[in-house]
Order: sequence, then structure tokens, then C-alpha cells
Amino acid sequence: MQIGIPLEIKAGEKRVAATPETVKKLAAVHSVSVQAGAGIGANITDSEYEAAGAKIVADAESLYAGSEMVLKVRGLEEQEFPLAKKGAMIVGLLAPHDREKMENYAKSGLTAFAMESIPRISRAQSMDVLSSQANIGGYKSVILAANAYGRFFPMLMTAAGTVKAARVLILGVGVAGLQAIATAKRLGAVIEAFDVRPAVKEQVLSLGAKFVEVPLQEGESAETSGGYAKEMSEDYKRRQAELIHARAIQSDIVITTALIPGKPAPVLLREETVKAMKHGSVVVDMAVEFGGNCPLSEKDRIVEKHGVTLIGHTNLPAMMAADASALYARNMLNFINLLFDQKTGELKLNREDEIISGTLISINGEMVK
Ligand code: NAI
Repeated sequence: MQIGIPLEIKAGEKRVAATPETVKKLAAVHSVSVQAGAGIGANITDSEYEAAGAKIVADAESLYAGSEMVLKVRGLEEQEFPLAKKGAMIVGLLAPHDREKMENYAKSGLTAFAMESIPRISRAQSMDVLSSQANIGGYKSVILAANAYGRFFPMLMTAAGTVKAARVLILGVGVAGLQAIATAKRLGAVIEAFDVRPAVKEQVLSLGAKFVEVPLQEGESAETSGGYAKEMSEDYKRRQAELIHARAIQSDIVITTALIPGKPAPVLLREETVKAMKHGSVVVDMAVEFGGNCPLSEKDRIVEKHGVTLIGHTNLPAMMAADASALYARNMLNFINLLFDQKTGELKLNREDEIISGTLISINGEMVK
């Protein structure tokens, strides 16, 4: 199989879908081409790819023309569709909830796999790009917050007096939220966290944070059988809003990561709450791409409103492109391995496999979902 790794062209995207480590493994079985400069945003040089067994090709046109399978971070941009060979396989973060975009893959005669749709099952953990990237996002959100905050995170006792520790509130404790707690803890903050799923309480406590909870009434449950949060009643939402308001106005930093997959982000931090927060506080809204947990945050901008800094970066992992690419590339390699017979190296699309059927969008130009 001829596998190609192009330079990502989406604005701000610095990650790359394969690293010398994964190229070496792929090149043992397949022929691998890398577009010149593809790794530059992740600090990987062409000669490192070459040493790992890849052929360097000069431009996107030749890369796509020679590839039966293209490994991507982001989905194809408009100008990339005509470059891809008919029947080629495209694997990447294709935004599967966007039907129109998905149909473009079918219309172009491509076989497309959306890495976002890797199911959260134990066998697929090593391929779970959303988790590996959310982990990085959670870490970076705290680092950005610490940088924008005009005070210390840890408590300090100095000859000039005592400095109080920063108070951090994390809303939504999935992968990103847990890493945000762990990172803020390492920096010495005092942390509270909230999630609609009471099941995460234990994890929050084990990281040394306090869990704030809306007491559930009889018969109320917040989790689906698949382990995701579910939409709650209006009464629950009112009680939740009051609790979050009370905690947020005591906090210096709020990091929001709340989302139900495929739904717009729930509004958790309302304008009245931001208005009542202390001047100099910082909010990082990680869900900004899906509408935001705070209506005041803006996509890919840092804004100041009511004396509060609101950070709305949509691609935090790209700010740590070297590690983000390393983890993404390993997830990708583990997924690719599933598509080939491990003995003969031949392509073998087992449509009965729930990881393959879950990610497959189109096959040879036919939509399958
Ligand atoms: P996840 O599904 O592991 O966690 C989301 C958490 O939100 C769950 O624990 C869920 O119970 C909770 N939640 C849902 N509705 C809630 C509500 N109304 N109140 C409180 N909690 C609620 O997701 P993950 O992987 O941690 O990602 C979190 C968010 O971060 C997503 O929106 C994702 O798109 C985003 N993200 C953003 C990045 C960026 O660069 N801005 C990078 C990576 C992820």
C-alpha cells in the first residue's frame, strides 16, 4: 500500500498525522511518502522522516497523486479534494457530524474514516484520538490560564507576607477536565470541580480536588447506559445554574469542558455570573467550538469582558504540536493496523468490526452512514 502524509493546510494546524516513530513501523510493510515540510510545525525535519524510511515528495499534488491511503489530522480542505486519487482512503478528524462535508468524500469517490468516531471501548483505547488530544487540551488550558492570570497559583509564604493560592473551578470532568485538575494541582491551586455525572466524584477526589454537586432528586439520573452525560430537566438546570454561580464568583480561574457528544455545548457560565466574578479572573472555554459553555467567549480569541479574561482557543492541541502529533500518530498507527491483515500486509476491511464500521463514512464513493 502507498501511504502518504501531507502537510496540514487548515489555518493554525501544526500537527502532523505521522512521526518518524510511526513512519518506521509503517515503512516496514508499506511504501510511505511524506510531503516536504509536513512535520515542521511539530519540529520534525524531512531528514528525520527520510531516516525512518519515508520518501520525501516536493508538493501536495505529487503526494496525493501517489497515495492510496492518506493520513491526515484534519479533514480535506476544498482545494485538497481534487488532488486525492479516486478510490483513495482518507483517515483523519473529518468532522463526521457535518453531513455536507461527509458527502464530499463520497462525491469525490473516496473511502473515508473519521477518527472522532472511534468508539470509547477498551479495545479502542490506544486509537482514541479525542482522548489523547483532550488530555493535551486540558493541560494547555491551565497553562494559558496561569499565564493570563496576574497572580500566583500556589500559596506562598514570603518575607513580604503571604500570597493566597488561586482557586480554580473546573466544569465538566471528562478527559480534558481530569487533566486540567491534575495540572492545576501540580501548580498548587485549590480546585473544585463539577460534572453532571456523579460517577466522576471519586476520580475528582483522588486528584485532590473538591467535588461540588447538585443533589439529585429521587428517580433522577445523569448518565446514559454508555457512560455519557445526558440532557437534564429544567428544574435540575436551575439548581445547577445557582450552584455554579455561587462557586464561580468565589473562583479566580474557571475552565469549562462540558459537552454531550453531537449536541451544542450547554451554557454553564452565564453573563450574570461572569459579571459577578472577581476582576482579573480568567475563563478558558474549551467547548467554544460547539457554541461554548459561556456565551461571552469567542472562537479563537482572547477577550476581556466585565473585567474577566475569556480564552476561546479551538485548537489547544496544535499549540503543543510535537507531543500532540506523537500521540495522534500512535493512535493513527494502531487504527491503521486494524485495516490490514497482520500476516500478509494486505488490506482487509472487516465491516463487522465495530471500530471499522463506527469510523467508516464512505467506501469507494458510496455513503455508508
Ligand atoms: P468528555 O466527553 O470526556 O467530557 C465531557 C464532560 O462534560 C463529561 O464528563 C460530561 O459528563 C460533562 N458534561 C456534559 N454536560 C454537562 C453539564 N451540563 N454540566 C456539567 N458537565 C457536563 O470530553 P473531553 O474529551 O474531555 O472534551 C471536553 C471538551 O473539550 C469537548 O467540548 C471537546 O470538544 C473540547 N476540546 C477542546 C479542545 C480545544 O482545543 N479547545 C481540545 C480538546 C477537546
